[in-house]
Amino acid sequence: MGTTTQHSIPWPKILKPILIILIPTLVLVTFISLDYNLDNLPFLKLRDINVDESLTPPLRCRAVNDSISLRLGDKCDMSIGKWVPYPKGPAYYTNNSRCVIQDAQNCMKYGRPDTEFMKWRWKPEDCELPLFDAARFLEIVRGKSMAFVGDSLARNQMQSLGCMLSSVASFVEQSNTTDIKFRRWFYPDYNFTLQLSRTPFLVKARGVSPYPAKPIDLYLDEVHEVWPTQVEAFDYVIISIGHWFAKPVMYHEKGKVVGCSSCKEKNIKDLTMYYGYRVALETAFRTLINLRPFKGIVFLRTISPTHFAAEEMKGRGNCIRTRPFEKREMKYDWYISTFHMMQMDEFRVAKRKGRERGLKFRLLDVTEAMSMRPDGHPNHYWHPPVGNKRQFYDCLHWCLPGPIDTWNELLLQQLKTEENEGETY
Ligand SMILES: *[C@@H]1O[C@H](CO)[C@@H](O)[C@H](O)[C@H]1NC(C)=O
Ligand SMILES: *[C@@H]1O[C@H](CO)[C@@H](O)[C@H](O)[C@H]1NC(C)=O
Ligand SMILES: *[C@@H]1O[C@H](CO)[C@@H](O)[C@H](O)[C@H]1NC(C)=O
Ligand SMILES: *[C@@H]1O[C@H](CO)[C@@H](O)[C@H](O)[C@H]1NC(C)=O
Repeated sequence: MGTTTQHSIPWPKILKPILIILIPTLVLVTFISLDYNLDNLPFLKLRDINVDESLTPPLRCRAVNDSISLRLGDKCDMSIGKWVPYPKGPAYYTNNSRCVIQDAQNCMKYGRPDTEFMKWRWKPEDCELPLFDAARFLEIVRGKSMAFVGDSLARNQMQSLGCMLSSVASFVEQSNTTDIKFRRWFYPDYNFTLQLSRTPFLVKARGVSPYPAKPIDLYLDEVHEVWPTQVEAFDYVIISIGHWFAKPVMYHEKGKVVGCSSCKEKNIKDLTMYYGYRVALETAFRTLINLRPFKGIVFLRTISPTHFAAEEMKGRGNCIRTRPFEKREMKYDWYISTFHMMQMDEFRVAKRKGRERGLKFRLLDVTEAMSMRPDGHPNHYWHPPVGNKRQFYDCLHWCLPGPIDTWNELLLQQLKTEENEGETY
């Protein structure tokens, strides 16, 4: 343990020639890392990401023919496509609907003037993504339970789902704690439980803070103490982590420090944020596979891109666009592509191992779709106007309503597929 070779990245043979030709031609754009606060104050700052030379290039190069990207069997790959206008939007709810929208993501409340960002729908290349049908969703999950496990984007998606269901059913708050890290909503009419288990790293972590004074200690081979027991009886578990790994973190394995990332300590090997992310995912998946009572379906929600446009602000980025990107406007993003590649690798391994134990692993691959939506973030509409005070821009979370609603459209599609497939893995 303790060397990158342990977790080195398999490089699919067919990609090699393509990448060799492509990589030198790709312009690697701004590497953006960020600090973002747990809940209220996304203090966002740019920092150079120290990209380890030894890392293999990302799997998904957007300039390459997209048919290389992972397909789920012979089914339509919903992860590739484009955004098409949907003038009737927002499709499911407004900021005035009876549902929970975190203030910081309630962009209309804080005066976001443009509304076009709510008027697009995702169109997969080879098929249609049907509109979300709340009644259908609730029928599928009747008598079941679903947990979002991860960071504030997990909560962002859960609130979006709550709002998308709000036209059909309302929930009873069952969170018997004021701890925002744990939320439980119960839908009595459907005997359906929705839960948020907050764990930004999935593994055991000490010194977790949005602005850590010293590196956060991550125990990469030890799973976080709480969430596995919170979800062991659940039918669906949606794993959702990512950007916290860009903070300064110290890696421990087998009780020893093995390296760190963004920590600037001379005598400690820099293992990059990707290393820790990968091992943490591996640990989390292994835990779920070994969790005996667990019989649920695990979804991995892929990395959600940020859109801090460095050129628009000195030193900090904001996201002022009001329209999606078209494919030709997209820039190659090493940071996101590398995370995505890691997720695909770990997902494939977990899916294979899970199958041996009768567990299903499924993907919610939102990365490409969301990378085209710089217009979907709160930017500075995550708080009341602050006058002359220093402004921070949130180009990481997503406005509600907004493009993040697509994640739940994709989730419902997956659930429908599972229903039709019965017992196949
Ligand atoms: C990508 O490749 C597939 C199969 O090789 C082909 O059918 C498709 O037209 C290609 N797409 C583009 C955009 O070149
Ligand atoms: C919804 O947005 C409008 C502006 O579009 C705002 O006036 C109103 O206060 C918001 N409602 C809530 C509940 O946030
Ligand atoms: C509600 O669902 C739970 C599983 O989530 C199940 O154990 C229980 O029997 C169900 N109750 C009713 C009344 O159907
Ligand atoms: C919340 O309730 C559950 C049982 O419903 C219990 O196991 C848990 O300890 C409670 N948590 C708190 C913080 O009260």
